[in-house]
Amino acid sequence: MSDLPELDLEPRVAAMLPPWTEIMQYIRKSPKRQTVEVLRAAAARGRPVVQPRCGVGGHGEMRTLLTTLEQRGRPDILTITIDSFTRLKQFRSAAQTLQRDPAGLNGYPLVTHGWRRGRELNELVDAPIEVRHGSPDPRELFAVALASGFTSFEGGGIDYNLPYSKDVPLARSLAAWAQVDRLCGVLAETGVIVDRELFGTLTAVLVPPSVSLAVCLLEARAASLAGVRCLSVAYPQGGEVHQDIAALRSIPVLARRYLPEHVEVFPVLHEFMGVFPRDPDVADALILYGGLTARLGGAAKVINKTNQEARGIPDAEANVAGIRTTALACTDLLDFVRVDEATVEEETYWLQREVAELVEPVLAAPDLSAAIVEAFTDGRLDIPFSASVHARSEVIPKRDSTGAIRYLGAGRLPFSRPTLRRNEQCLRVDRASLSGRLIDEIRSDINFFVQAETRSQAARLATRAAPTRSAVTGPGGAR
Ligand code: 5AD
Repeated sequence: MSDLPELDLEPRVAAMLPPWTEIMQYIRKSPKRQTVEVLRAAAARGRPVVQPRCGVGGHGEMRTLLTTLEQRGRPDILTITIDSFTRLKQFRSAAQTLQRDPAGLNGYPLVTHGWRRGRELNELVDAPIEVRHGSPDPRELFAVALASGFTSFEGGGIDYNLPYSKDVPLARSLAAWAQVDRLCGVLAETGVIVDRELFGTLTAVLVPPSVSLAVCLLEARAASLAGVRCLSVAYPQGGEVHQDIAALRSIPVLARRYLPEHVEVFPVLHEFMGVFPRDPDVADALILYGGLTARLGGAAKVINKTNQEARGIPDAEANVAGIRTTALACTDLLDFVRVDEATVEEETYWLQREVAELVEPVLAAPDLSAAIVEAFTDGRLDIPFSASVHARSEVIPKRDSTGAIRYLGAGRLPFSRPTLRRNEQCLRVDRASLSGRLIDEIRSDINFFVQAETRSQAARLATRAAPTRSAVTGPGGAR
């Protein structure tokens, strides 16, 4: 039976784990660099490190995938992406599918494979490995991850619940994640620092930056109260570079404002998480743009996309290319690129103001978890397009003419009049004129980069067609 402090585990999983002292010994004796060290070095250097997502069902296939990515892509941090059954604690279904058809799993079922195989993967590659998933209750997964020697773990009680689960009460996911974070606190006291990445990407669809940052800051505060010392705050690339840079650069500032001083915070960029262009060349350009945004925004880490994104889970080759393109954007090759700093400054002012208006009332309450639950119930906290009945999703996001994501409707978010006015001014829309077309407008905002693809194709076609047309219509042109 497991004796991991703080975690209440399903007995079947607990029974398979080694003793706590053995796990601690294994982690402390590991000669590998830990994720926190890689992030510190990246932050000191001022260039983001690159990390892919990757996970397949079979153990042998997972070994091959990790070694291929490491040898050919040279990412600084590697990933094990976990399958959906395991995310939802359906360990029996994970085991059955693994036996019948490992390729039918959309990730690596770590709990089913167990900590011995986990350690094998850990020791197989030089790069430290992060476990990425989407579990509203990750306790068993975290236990097996830790026993495997993985000291980097994604997710939080809000961000891995509301975007993914239909009806898991927030109080329940927050309580489960609090156990994980308290165990991280116990580890930190013995010098083992677990990097806890927060998934500010949320539903990945037109998430207003202040919603993303507010959710992460509240989770970060909860985690740091539980004892977590290292937090990676992930922000999803929206696509308007000044807004994205403002958001990334705000992360350390807001962390200083709202989190205890001893907590290390690293800004992370998730390359565009919305609908991706199908044309691999256009996708590659967007991936390069993502890397550049991460670099300009001062991210410590960037999670790359691949040019197979529009089709689903990428193969190793596409992932290697995605890692390399992203890494290229983080070298000095593009150091000449400058943005309009005055625009970034203006974005920063309003963004930080919006975040303050969202988080400060919640942080002022005596019980943070209860305050978060209440705020989502009332709609004072909200996320657009949530899968969950526990968020109202009354917020209506909309891109302005520059592509920046604004609030067309702020629902019940407690924004001040100046904040609401600024959003209105940026959008400069007459709501009445939109009413019939709103759904089309939002669809087109969601398809922002797919339309960029269509535009670029149209432009190329027009250039190609041009000589023919002038030959036909030009002076003296005979028909
Ligand atoms: N391997 C690689 N990428 C994955 N994603 C989801 N599962 C996996 C996996 N097993 C990626 C999707 C998308 C993002 C949400 O995660 O392709 O880019």
